[in-house]
Amino acid sequence: MTARIIDGQQLAERMRSKIAEDVKAFQAANGYVPGLGVVLVGENPASAQYVRMKRRACESVGITSVGEYLPATATQDEVEAAVKKLNADPAVHGILVQLPLPNPLDEEAVLRAVSLEKDADGLHPINIGRLAMKGRDPLFTPATPTGCMHLLEEAGAKLEGARAVVIGRSNIVGTPMALMLMKANATVTVCHSRTRDMQNIIREADIVVAAIGKPEFVKGDWLKPGAVVIDVGTNKVDDPTDSRGYKFVGDVEFASAVEVAGAITKVPGGVGPMTITMLIANTLKAAQRGAGSAV
Ligand code: GUN
Repeated sequence: MTARIIDGQQLAERMRSKIAEDVKAFQAANGYVPGLGVVLVGENPASAQYVRMKRRACESVGITSVGEYLPATATQDEVEAAVKKLNADPAVHGILVQLPLPNPLDEEAVLRAVSLEKDADGLHPINIGRLAMKGRDPLFTPATPTGCMHLLEEAGAKLEGARAVVIGRSNIVGTPMALMLMKANATVTVCHSRTRDMQNIIREADIVVAAIGKPEFVKGDWLKPGAVVIDVGTNKVDDPTDSRGYKFVGDVEFASAVEVAGAITKVPGGVGPMTITMLIANTLKAAQRGAGSAV
C-alpha cells in the first residue's frame, strides 16, 4: 500500500485565502486591520528568519505587524517592557515572543507577561494550563500542534478512541500536541529520548506525530499498516546532489514510511506551511474577539 500524501502546502494556501477574505471583511466592519506584535531577542539566524517569514505571511493576508527587536544583552525588565508595550498598543491584537530566548532570560516570566487575550502563540502558562485540564478551554492553542490537528482532520483521521503516539515532549510542539490529542479523546502516549522499546509502542499507534528533531528517525517498519503519520521534523542534512549542498528531511524516513502508512505528510510541504498559517489565524481571531465578534 502506498500512503496518501497529506498536502500541507495546499491546505495552508486554502486557509490563507480564507483568512485574507476574513481580514477584508473585518476591516470593512471595523475600519482597521488586525495586527501582530513580534518580540525578537538576539541575533539567532533561524529565529530572525522565522520572524521574517511570519511578518511576511501577515502582510500577504492584510494583517499589519509591529516588531520589537532587542539585543541578546537585553535584561529581563527590558524584554518584559517590550511585551507590555505591545499589550498596551491598540493596533496589536496578537503577540508572538520568538523562542528560544537567549540565556539567562526567564522565558516563563516573559510569556506570562503577554496579555491572555493577545496570546496568539498560545504559550501563556494559563492558556497551556487550560489546554491541560478537562472542561477548560484555552483562548488560543500553539501554532505547530494546531496545524497538525488540521492536517489530521484533512487526512480524515478518526481521533476519538484512537491510539496516538507523540514522539518528542518539547513545550512548543510535543507536549501541547499530546494535550490536544487527549482533548480530542485519543489515547495518547508520549515517547522521548528515555523511552524504552519505542518501536513497539509506535507499532500500536493509529496516529503518529514525530517531533523529536532527529533526521529520518522513524522507519517504515516501525509503523502499523494504515497509520496516519504527521512529520513535524525539519532537519537540514548534507546532500551533494542538491545545488545548495543540503536538503531538509523530516523525523520520519519517508521512503519506507510511505509504503506502510495510510496517510503521511511530506517535508517540506507538510507541517511547515501550516505553522505560520495558524499564527495568522490566531491573530485574526484575537482581533475578532477584541471587536466583540464572538469566535
Ligand atoms: N520557535 C520555533 N518555533 C516557534 C513557535 O512556534 N513559536 C515561537 N514563539 N517560537 C518558536
